[in-house]
Amino acid sequence: MSIEPLMSHRSAAPEPVPPTPGAVQSAPVPVVRERLAERVRRVPPSGIRKYFDVIATMPDVISLGVGEPDFTTPPQIVEEGVRSLRAGRTHYTSNYGTLDLRRGLSGHLERLYGVRYDPEGEICVTVGASEALAVTMAAIVDPGDEVILHEPSYVAYVPAIVFSGGVPVFVSTRAERAFELDPAEVEAAVTPRTKAIFLGYPCNPTGAVLAHDTLDAIADIAERHDLLVVSDEIYDRLVYAGHRHRAFSSLPGMRERTVLLGGFSKAYAMTGWRVGYACAPRELLEGFVKIHQYQIMSAPTTAQDAAVTALTGAEHDVLRMVDEYDRRRRMFVAELNRIGLPTFDPHGAFYAFPSIKGTGLSSEEFAERLLFEHQVAVIPGTAFGPSGEGHVRASYATSFEGLQEAVRRIERFVRSL
Ligand SMILES: Cc1ncc(COP(=O)(O)O)c(C=O)c1O
Repeated sequence: MSIEPLMSHRSAAPEPVPPTPGAVQSAPVPVVRERLAERVRRVPPSGIRKYFDVIATMPDVISLGVGEPDFTTPPQIVEEGVRSLRAGRTHYTSNYGTLDLRRGLSGHLERLYGVRYDPEGEICVTVGASEALAVTMAAIVDPGDEVILHEPSYVAYVPAIVFSGGVPVFVSTRAERAFELDPAEVEAAVTPRTKAIFLGYPCNPTGAVLAHDTLDAIADIAERHDLLVVSDEIYDRLVYAGHRHRAFSSLPGMRERTVLLGGFSKAYAMTGWRVGYACAPRELLEGFVKIHQYQIMSAPTTAQDAAVTALTGAEHDVLRMVDEYDRRRRMFVAELNRIGLPTFDPHGAFYAFPSIKGTGLSSEEFAERLLFEHQVAVIPGTAFGPSGEGHVRASYATSFEGLQEAVRRIERFVRSL
């Protein structure tokens, strides 16, 4: 099923713009929104931002809404950033990023996943995985091209496809099937216009990871239909319960048709540094870098230097944070189930995605009432796609004690319904 042009925000008759007191009056301006490009108007604002704006005005809110670590960046990484600045490293780097960081990433990915990327020509350092995602779509999508996307999934995927002129084609995943992606449904979504399959696993917001035979089946579909695969693996290090992440490009035959996206924000608690990367075969990455070099130039030099230390000297910190997320995950998921919100056991990322269907409320109603009546912020599942209805996303990247208090408040709310 392909989604219709997302939503038209064109109003029936242009609304008059009220005059600004004291402003010089010139010719009447038509509604300014009409001047935005059609593809921009079609994308609604993020369903997440709206909540942050409200939370910022409320005291005593426990926010389970954010998608970032509560930890600060490990000190040795911070020190490297400071050292880099003091050493006068205040200039642009190569468009591809520093060779040190590309070499570090190449060794890191080979060590962890057995997939080798040449630091010279197959790796580009970006401003977070966010930039890598947007540039990848701009580089591979022609107007009208279809991109198969599982949902519920990260809020930036659909806009990245639509802003590039592409058409997202949804394949839904459901709690009843452990949010597993069904390869048969992926294959049924393939048409002559399909350009790529988009994968975001471990999944934000469900916490699902793909079973190895599902990955193999999707690789087989990509091969038979000659499709690209874009794989956002930013949560690769945050996996639990014995799961081992596999890079999609490490599957037989997939390196040549995959764009691997990743970043430092989550595993190294470096969201504010803005550093991520894209890895792809040389010819694909050349197209990617053409866009990146004209639009961005290079990722922040300080952050790139600090990221080298993240790769070489912070493994102990990563494991400590993963252990703590896992401790919270086990407590939080058990508690949500106990208070009557059935919750799928998430094996990756740092989100729980409980079902709130039993409350009789919609996802939006549940999230709004929980926030205004009990001061706990969660995100309605519908922000991540239509199959998110009946769920909310609650991040456990917050303190253990904060989560315990959040559970007490959620329990009071659920009992009051
Ligand atoms: C699945 C996913 N991909 C990409 C990003 C963007 O990360 P970055 O901070 O590297 O831009 C996020 C951030 O929440 C995310 O959840």
